[in-house]
Amino acid sequence: MTLTVKKLHPSLGAEVSGVNLHAPVDEETKAALSAALAEHLVLVLRDQSFTPAEYLAVADAFGTLMRQHYSQHNMADYPDIGIILHRDGQKPASMWHTDHTNRERPPKATILYGLTVPREGGETSIANMRAAYAGLPAEERRHLETLTTLNSIDAHRTDVLPEDREKYGAPVAHPLVRTHPEHGSKAIYFHITKAFEIEGMSGAASQALMQDLLDRTITPENIYTHRWRKGDLMIMDNRATMHRAHGDYDRSQDRELWRLIVQGDRPYLQGTP
Ligand code: SIN
Repeated sequence: MTLTVKKLHPSLGAEVSGVNLHAPVDEETKAALSAALAEHLVLVLRDQSFTPAEYLAVADAFGTLMRQHYSQHNMADYPDIGIILHRDGQKPASMWHTDHTNRERPPKATILYGLTVPREGGETSIANMRAAYAGLPAEERRHLETLTTLNSIDAHRTDVLPEDREKYGAPVAHPLVRTHPEHGSKAIYFHITKAFEIEGMSGAASQALMQDLLDRTITPENIYTHRWRKGDLMIMDNRATMHRAHGDYDRSQDRELWRLIVQGDRPYLQGTP
């Protein structure tokens, strides 16, 4: 199989063609996909069509599936598929975040499939947190590299089921700057509502530091905004990006995305800034 990779944006994102995800993917193609993801951070494949069982098999091209922790949104017969549908109290994830940082080995990638998309709006934006980190002054980078976040399933959300809080609520520590295990580069890494504290700081000071970092480092040149077409498959590298949903579409129209998450390594930081 020959993979074609075409950049979508100067900072991140590439459209990939030449791979058939309806059949097992060979090791060479898996390695090429993995390298393309580490480099471009977002991969988009157009015109896909999957049943739930076929969609689950897509994860194999990128690694091992992980169970998602808002279990009320997981598909009844296929609980490894999370359904994103802004109905029945499910709100757009409109704040910048990376996924499931309350897990010891958070997902390296999130895969989204556009089953039904609105005519206008409802985009997903993805920010290049590798570029965000690289753009900071050396002294600030050095300081950030000393920081560790403590993470848990969102304390303030009222829609977390007791069994999910029980399973996924134990605090987990992660470096605030992490090294990408395949690319070797560093990126700012946290989920502002899961990181309840930066070690040694109050909760309020931790939130203020993280919000200020988001405000200063996520700039238009570091953002790729994906305008969904039905059948799009998008893979985001959670180790060096953050993403957010745009809830600005006509809610009488459906926007249904299916989400998978792929197991990653324990985040670590290596080397000097
Ligand atoms: C997510 O945060 O995983 C979902 C993004 C979206 O709905 O666009």
